[in-house]
Amino acid sequence: MKERIEVSFRDFLGAIQAALLYGAGHPIVKKAIEKAHQSITDCLTEKAELTIGIIGEELAFEKEIFFDLSKLAKPGITYLKDRSIEKITFKRGFQLVELEKFIVFLVMPKEDVKKDLGDYLKFMGVHNIIAGKVGVVSKAAEQALQQALDRKGLYEHSLEEISQPLIGILNREAIDGLALKLAINNIVDKLGTQYQQLLKLDTLKRYDLGTFTHLINVSILSMYFSSKIGFTKEIVLDIGLAALFHDIGKLYISRKIIRKPGQLSSMEFSQMESHTVLGSALLLQYIDTLGIMPVVVSFEHHLRCDLSGYPKAAFPKKPHIISQIVSICDTYDALSARRSYKVDYPPDMIYNLMMRGKGTTYASSLLEKFFQLIGVWPIGSIVSLSDKRTAVVVDENQDDIFSPIVKVIYPEKEEVKIDLKGNKDGLKIERYLNPRREGKDFLHLI
Ligand SMILES: [Fe+2]
Ligand SMILES: [Fe+2]
Repeated sequence: MKERIEVSFRDFLGAIQAALLYGAGHPIVKKAIEKAHQSITDCLTEKAELTIGIIGEELAFEKEIFFDLSKLAKPGITYLKDRSIEKITFKRGFQLVELEKFIVFLVMPKEDVKKDLGDYLKFMGVHNIIAGKVGVVSKAAEQALQQALDRKGLYEHSLEEISQPLIGILNREAIDGLALKLAINNIVDKLGTQYQQLLKLDTLKRYDLGTFTHLINVSILSMYFSSKIGFTKEIVLDIGLAALFHDIGKLYISRKIIRKPGQLSSMEFSQMESHTVLGSALLLQYIDTLGIMPVVVSFEHHLRCDLSGYPKAAFPKKPHIISQIVSICDTYDALSARRSYKVDYPPDMIYNLMMRGKGTTYASSLLEKFFQLIGVWPIGSIVSLSDKRTAVVVDENQDDIFSPIVKVIYPEKEEVKIDLKGNKDGLKIERYLNPRREGKDFLHLI
């Protein structure tokens, strides 16, 4: 089905291109429109209607975003967006003549378009094609979205958008897979420039909303990590989606057990371990919407590279690379978060703790790459330098993960950055200042 839809999208955009090149009445255009009509009609044998969505720069259909096609069809997409068309629905039984009229309208010079699109189509007797804006990406909505982001911050906004489907799954309701994918896509688009704000690796993480926060943190961190090691955007999205649900099974386990500060009894421990199996069983019901990776990752994220973790499978097999990525990000977030039952560890301690699992719990190369990207002291860490000045980490040095680039914030707020790598004064980080305790007084300076 996916291929047929892709073909029909391509043919439809091809017909628009042809009409723009040759003018609406040309025989080549007629042929192209016939071809598009045929391939769309083919798709409509299985579905009562077919909706093409244009979200941002991408073409979308239901839960699918057609990245590759979007690249090819960029001129067509820009053209439609320019005419405020972000959604086109073809209904079963639509006629060739309707498509012709629609395309004539599409290629009309913008200034000749006096009527509203809906009115025009009705006026021309086109009843089986509906075109217009998709609510969420209209100009007004885009502005509202921006305002919401400014007000709440990107992180809180993303948390809100993603919480809905999570709750939906817990209630075993149907969820809007495409909306979820777009919410994640929105995050991926911002990872390049605003990942600091999104990752909340350190100073900004002043919230403890429990498992939900953990799920979104792990999702964002996994997407950041996987995009930096070269996965395509499409796979990064799948990784984000899988990571988002890795601990969904925990929401079925008694909070008493999850939050217990001391050691768990063997009974409690096996209940805790069951979150992997519970989660994957639940996610199996959402394969059509979310794909198979959330099931795999939920099942494997505590398995460990040497298979010494859990659950014990009948036919043990090394965890999938995506499970391995999520597993690293999972532990990193769990160790850095403060919970009612545990303190938040300083970053250098997290590094040392995780390095103990190098080659056993985690694949060596993957773990090393992770710390090269995140650094021992993640961006945003407030640190005390060896000359007693206080600074904030602003960038990492991949070839010297202990010596990032910092900006002094106290005693004098200097805008100057200091690269601690090979620093000639021998300046180094002496101590981490926890933003909830000794670092609290410096928060307003960063
Ligand atoms: Fe887990
Ligand atoms: Fe987790």
